Amino acid sequence: MTQPRSIVILTGAGISAESGIATFRGPGGLWEGHRVEDVCTPEALARDPASVHRFYDARRAALATVEPNAAHLALARLDAAWPGALLLVTQNVDDLHERAGSRRLLHMHGALRSALCALCGIRSASPDPLPPDTPCPDCGEPALRPDIVFFGEMPYHMDAIEAAVAGCDLFVSIGTSGAVYPAAGLVRLAAAHGAATLELNLEPSAGSDLFDETRLGLATALVSAWVDTLLHRHG
Ligand code: APR
Repeated sequence: MTQPRSIVILTGAGISAESGIATFRGPGGLWEGHRVEDVCTPEALARDPASVHRFYDARRAALATVEPNAAHLALARLDAAWPGALLLVTQNVDDLHERAGSRRLLHMHGALRSALCALCGIRSASPDPLPPDTPCPDCGEPALRPDIVFFGEMPYHMDAIEAAVAGCDLFVSIGTSGAVYPAAGLVRLAAAHGAATLELNLEPSAGSDLFDETRLGLATALVSAWVDTLLHRHG
């Protein structure tokens, strides 16, 4: 693989697993204990706002008990040192990338630290906890909801993400099962535009055969080694 100039990195729940945040699928995953239909759809929010808000309150409260791990820190090191174009796109709603120091970062599925007014659309720092009917700091209406992209809703920043992926020469996917679109389709877009594609994951994902190369193992080990090699070669 020639030395890339522009890189797009996609992360999923697997990068935060070693920090103690449950992934979604697989043993002990969030979707084992909760039905998506009960906590992660606009219909669930309309039907039972108290349960949905409680679910995300618990996940937000848990952020205080976890820390960024070596994989988050390695990506922040890359962000600080990489002279070319770089974009980190995360499906995660935790704040571990920011706390590790990543700056060129987009949350495509929302963020636990943010609240969204269902009426005026303004986003603001989320109170903790965030009970239903919390007034919006901008329009004052009791309409704040968790700023999480629910199933059936459009992910955030898709234009910027697709433009970056179409223009990059290296696309790297870390800790994601490739089960959820449009994130799972980004590798195809990258390959279609001639980018090299690399997957770093604990086990083969639904999209492994779409990547030029797949390395299996723990994110903390794989990501640190990849970043060290890249920065060493580029040094
Ligand atoms: N290191 C590397 N990879 C890991 C690790 C680890 N320590 N632990 C788990 N993984 C891998 C698993 O093998 C799996 O392929 O991370 C992946 C996690 O997959 P999911 O639980 O499906 O999470 P993700 O792909 O991020 O889910 C995508 O689905 O539920 C929705 O909106 C939610 O953003 C989420 C989206």
